[in-house]
Amino acid sequence: MDQAIIQTKNLQFTYSAGQEGQEESRCVLNGVDLDIEAGSFVAILGHNGSGKSTLAKHMNAILLPSGGAVYVNGMDSADAVRLLDIRRTVGMVFQNPDNQIVANVVEEDVAFAPENLGVPQEQLRRRVDDALKAVGMYQFREHAPHLLSGGQKQRVAIAGVIAMAPRCIVLDEPTAMLDPVGRREVLSAIQDLNRTSGVTVVLITHHMDEAAQAGRLVVMSKGKVIADGPPKEVFQQVEQLRSVGLTVPETTALLWELRQAGLDVPLDALSDADCAQALYRLLA
Ligand SMILES: Nc1ncnc2c1ncn2[C@@H]1O[C@H](COP(=O)(O)OP(=O)(O)OP(=O)(O)O)[C@@H](O)[C@H]1O
Ligand SMILES: [Mg+2]
Repeated sequence: MDQAIIQTKNLQFTYSAGQEGQEESRCVLNGVDLDIEAGSFVAILGHNGSGKSTLAKHMNAILLPSGGAVYVNGMDSADAVRLLDIRRTVGMVFQNPDNQIVANVVEEDVAFAPENLGVPQEQLRRRVDDALKAVGMYQFREHAPHLLSGGQKQRVAIAGVIAMAPRCIVLDEPTAMLDPVGRREVLSAIQDLNRTSGVTVVLITHHMDEAAQAGRLVVMSKGKVIADGPPKEVFQQVEQLRSVGLTVPETTALLWELRQAGLDVPLDALSDADCAQALYRLLA
């Protein structure tokens, strides 16, 4: 049985000339094959311009393939008749929380999208309350969104998506504009959604520590997937990651240097605790 909630098949995408001052058309996705398993937590990492956002926008039919195909829960994203269904299945959260706020009261903001998608009024109240509770923002339901911190605003934006009861949520660098506290709040809300509610999560990020939390890490470069697997395995490909302009977590970098110097340490001790253990064993 096919468990993929999102499937891309030889996905290609070219921005045509004339868009955003482009003088010539540019191939940005160059044959991407990905199956995102329902219920999984997948992080996507890649240098600036590697095509991450373009790929994300294919996951709920904001963009349509120039070549190949995208299936959302089996629905062809190019099938205009399924557009509403696709948008209900996969919700999208973007980088800037300020651009995603549409109302003057938190709970009205969260109600906005599901209301537009036709959720009946009697269900709406419950959906909004549950979504706000899921991201830890219920006590702020009557507050003005513009007075909240960045992390709080972003959690309200996530609640707005959750209130549509999507099976999958795609977040494009949702913590890029947040301070460390806001980043932690948002990441833990995302993890809870995945673990507790079984929502499939696709998290695009520049932060190695966030990528390390995912069950699967996909690395993109120049419109292609160049590595795909559990973070512990992917991060061991230190030279390959560096060659495409990425760093590796500090733990991996340290262990890698020690190995280069001939010491027998494991490269997969990704967490601080595991890394400390590995160093301790070296001294013992
Ligand atoms: N609307 C557009 N019109 C033309 N070219 C675009 C458009 N959006 C993005 N591009 C180009 O497509 C390429 C991939 O962009 P994309 O935004 O998908 O990359 P990204 O990996 O998300 O980058 P970042 O890390 O900076 O967010 C880049 O070269 C970018 O300049
Ligand atoms: Mg981007």
